[in-house]
Amino acid sequence: MDSRLIEAELQVLHEISSILGKALDLQRALEMVLSVLSEKLAMKRATVTLLDKAGGRLQIRASHGLSAEERGRGVYQMGEGVTGEIGRSGQPFWSPDVSLEPKFLNKTQSRRLDKEKLAFVGVPVVLRGQVIGVLTVDRLFDADVSAEEDIRFLSIVAQIIGQFVHLNQEVEARERTLRRQNIQLKREVSATYNDFFIIGRSEAMKRVQQMISRVAPSMASVLLLGESGTGKTLVARIIHELSLRAEGPFIKVNCAALPGNLLESELFGHEKGSFTGAHAARAGRFEEADGGTVFLDEIAEMPLELQAKLLRFLQDKEFERLGSSRTIKVDARIVAATNRELPAMVDAGAFRADLYYRLNVFPIYIPPLRQRPQDIEILLSHFLDRNSANYGQSLSVEPAARRVLLDYPWPGNVREMQNIMERLAIMSENGRITMETLPLFLHSAASPPPQAPSPAPDSAASGRPKLWEMEKDQLLQALERNRWVQSRAAAELGITLRQMGHRVKKFGIDKLVKQRRSQLLGKS
Ligand SMILES: Nc1ncnc2c1ncn2[C@@H]1O[C@H](COP(=O)(O)OP(=O)(O)OP(=O)(O)O)[C@@H](O)[C@H]1O
Ligand SMILES: [Mg+2]
Repeated sequence: MDSRLIEAELQVLHEISSILGKALDLQRALEMVLSVLSEKLAMKRATVTLLDKAGGRLQIRASHGLSAEERGRGVYQMGEGVTGEIGRSGQPFWSPDVSLEPKFLNKTQSRRLDKEKLAFVGVPVVLRGQVIGVLTVDRLFDADVSAEEDIRFLSIVAQIIGQFVHLNQEVEARERTLRRQNIQLKREVSATYNDFFIIGRSEAMKRVQQMISRVAPSMASVLLLGESGTGKTLVARIIHELSLRAEGPFIKVNCAALPGNLLESELFGHEKGSFTGAHAARAGRFEEADGGTVFLDEIAEMPLELQAKLLRFLQDKEFERLGSSRTIKVDARIVAATNRELPAMVDAGAFRADLYYRLNVFPIYIPPLRQRPQDIEILLSHFLDRNSANYGQSLSVEPAARRVLLDYPWPGNVREMQNIMERLAIMSENGRITMETLPLFLHSAASPPPQAPSPAPDSAASGRPKLWEMEKDQLLQALERNRWVQSRAAAELGITLRQMGHRVKKFGIDKLVKQRRSQLLGKS
């Protein structure tokens, strides 16, 4: 064999392996390979067809010397034309003159203008004994180069291409897996750390979810209604996250946390010297929220004068800082929340009717957990999973304890469940949550299990708190849930106010209750 030819072929192989060694993009790499072939070996046109995923058709994946249109036409069924025949049989094909070969479909219509005599060589691309594609080349006929030689050489190239395609598929598959895992992880991170995740399968919560996705992308103000702990703050955050302003700030203001004039300055800002203590000018939260969302929690506690200013902002998106006449325009969306009965407050003159109607254009009511018992189980498993992850042990709940948790009315709603589940995770022994782990007030609130489980011999009664302590604990928790208002805690526990007062004294917590209550009042 001609030594110059061998040298040229070796050089081509060397270049091909160096292209494939660096490339990641399948099509581009194959095109570079084909262009090396054509330049170095007088090959005019070349194509690599690969079997599609379903394995039925060969499709051009890379070509040299073909226009995009010609390439697009290059799709062959197995057995169709020369390319399809090579694919089906796995045998190479050689012809000294393309124009004389009746089997050529000339499907790409790229050969019509050729005057020169073109030889055709096609070889299968094989991987692990399976044909995965076809490499074809039209080359200027050269009497010095035998068919065997062409086939031998292109078979080597086809083999390298096969390995490369395989590698590429592996990388793609791994990338797909990584991408899937990444999305999954992001979701988990968001659920675990950000909690921007609403759980619930009840019809009521499905409706809430629907309303959220409908209203979020709009500019509409939203009023979130529901008892404490039902998820209003969470929903506000999700509305922001799903809105077009998700990249903007989410500013949370609790209207019950500051007295009137301080709240006004907090929201709308002030100029220097506008009130005693205003040593420097300060932008308010509305200005900070430009391009984002302001979440006004406990909106019912906003003083009437300030309600007027808020109404003006809702209508015209403008306001003045305290002590300033300069009007500021801000693009902020308002989401408000309350656990109070606003219509009753409007009737009593404690809340402006016009503001109420303005906010109530899009109300979302989140029902208390006891009215959607279908959500209890899935929420319990959510908090179990989360605490398992947080505390690094896999938590499980014994059937009897599970029954109690499912039957409990959860007066403090999801927040109460979240707190109790965390407490149970801490109290559990080896991750097992049993009847003994549950606080007593859960037992008494739920119906008793059909058969009281006999205590295991080693769960010594001495380790359990005394009845007296348990009752005290139950009382304290009810008071805490009811913001230390004795009448409300009594109602929750189903005892009279007199009985409550009696117990508070008996347990020596009367001072504590007073103290907590006044702390709370001082804060709001
Ligand atoms: N459907 C839910 N899925 C998952 N977590 C929830 C759900 N509802 C509430 N939570 C979680 O329960 C806790 C209490 O919810 P959130 O603070 O939103 O209640 P709230 O209605 O704003 O209460 P409050 O009126 O006291 O402000 C939060 O940690 C929240 O993430
Ligand atoms: Mg809240």
